[in-house]
Amino acid sequence: MGSVHVLDHPLLQHKLSILRNKDTGVKEFREIVSEIAMLMCYEATRDLPTEEVEIETPMAVAKCHVLSGKKLAVVPILRAGLGMVDGMISLIPSAKIGHIGLFRDPDTHEPVKYYCKMPNDIAERDVIVVDPMLATGGSASAAITFIKEYGCKTIRLMDIIAAPEGVALVQKDHPDVDIYVAAVDDCLNEHAYILPGLGDAGDRIFGTK
Ligand code: PRP
Ligand code: URA
Repeated sequence: MGSVHVLDHPLLQHKLSILRNKDTGVKEFREIVSEIAMLMCYEATRDLPTEEVEIETPMAVAKCHVLSGKKLAVVPILRAGLGMVDGMISLIPSAKIGHIGLFRDPDTHEPVKYYCKMPNDIAERDVIVVDPMLATGGSASAAITFIKEYGCKTIRLMDIIAAPEGVALVQKDHPDVDIYVAAVDDCLNEHAYILPGLGDAGDRIFGTK
């Protein structure tokens, strides 16, 4: 079973409270999503492998540690996941970016795929899937299934807010995937929105409502 890492850093929790506030406007919401993605990226990459190398400083030779594992790819689930990409690549600038377009059918809440474009070498990369919201888990589970079809072996999922239902579905469908979230909320409402949540992440990032 994949682990669920609830990231409780005070800076993250403070910023999350601003996202939840219904009076936070588009500009600030977008900036804070990006900042949260950066802070979460720092925590979600904590176990990346490193190797020791010797570096000549102006003074002496220092034993240093550099990343030694596979290269990374970040895969946002469109639309809302796009809001997390800048924050991710500010920490891992050489990561390649894949895109998966999914929207939830408003009646069935099932994910509908409308776009998919991955880097050519995605199979050789470790993948971090990003999306602010993990509600029923249908979108994240479908996205991870698509990515596995490309041959990717190590996949992490990063969401800002999760519902228990979404965590359970991803754990059931993809027990090999570790999940990183800033909060696990109470439940879903009858429209499969997270309570208390923050509303519709895509609409709040892009100002479409
Ligand atoms: C939202 C969110 C996730 C999905 C989560 O996207 O960004 O992708 O819903 O719900 P689920 O866990 O029940 O699948 P939405 O479908 O609203 O599309 P958008 O990003 O284009 O707004
Ligand atoms: N998608 C959102 O943007 N918010 C929710 O609460 C659930 C799905």
